[in-house]
Amino acid sequence: MRKIKAAVFASGTGSNFEAMMNDENLACEIVLLVCDKPGATVIDKANQYGVQTFVLNPRDYDTKQEYESNILITVRELEVEWIFLAGYMRLIGPTLLEAYEGRIINIHPSLLPNFPGKDAIGQAIRAACKTTGVTVHYVDEGMDTGPIIAQKKVEIFPNDTEETLKSRIQEIEHALYPEVINMVVGLVELEEV
Ligand code: GRF
Repeated sequence: MRKIKAAVFASGTGSNFEAMMNDENLACEIVLLVCDKPGATVIDKANQYGVQTFVLNPRDYDTKQEYESNILITVRELEVEWIFLAGYMRLIGPTLLEAYEGRIINIHPSLLPNFPGKDAIGQAIRAACKTTGVTVHYVDEGMDTGPIIAQKKVEIFPNDTEETLKSRIQEIEHALYPEVINMVVGLVELEEV
């Protein structure tokens, strides 16, 4: 079966990127890592897996449009069909949203619409929630606001720290994200047959 070409956008550690790379059943070939943080650990991971990287510093661009147009040239060159955000700490602007309408998804460590934005895990602990979770959603112009595709609950224990909770949440993320990717990519491809 033809593997769909995809790019991962990430800014940090890249454990979700790694989970995709390690999933033999992933319906996509990850052909590119786009990273907006020169020096981020995810870049080393991409190099280990032999995945092409495109590292940019947004400060080198006057506008978001210029920055994203530069990314667009590269993703188009590589015939990227889907974009998966995995800890990409930047809002996606109209340039990429219009080019990849309905083909950008994100994973977020909370049960959206609760706790969007940064430090979702810390926010859930400080709010004394008993449950939080993971959400995979389509990306729109807002901060973690696009249509929700899948969610999974994670219990918060009374003695949880941000670290212990994060490790349980990430375990769920690493299984859920590839599963949801296969589902949405498969659905769209079926519609197009
Ligand atoms: C994940 O928890 C994801 O939900 C959030 O950013 C984190 C990225 O982690 N959007 P990693 O870089 O994949 O380890």
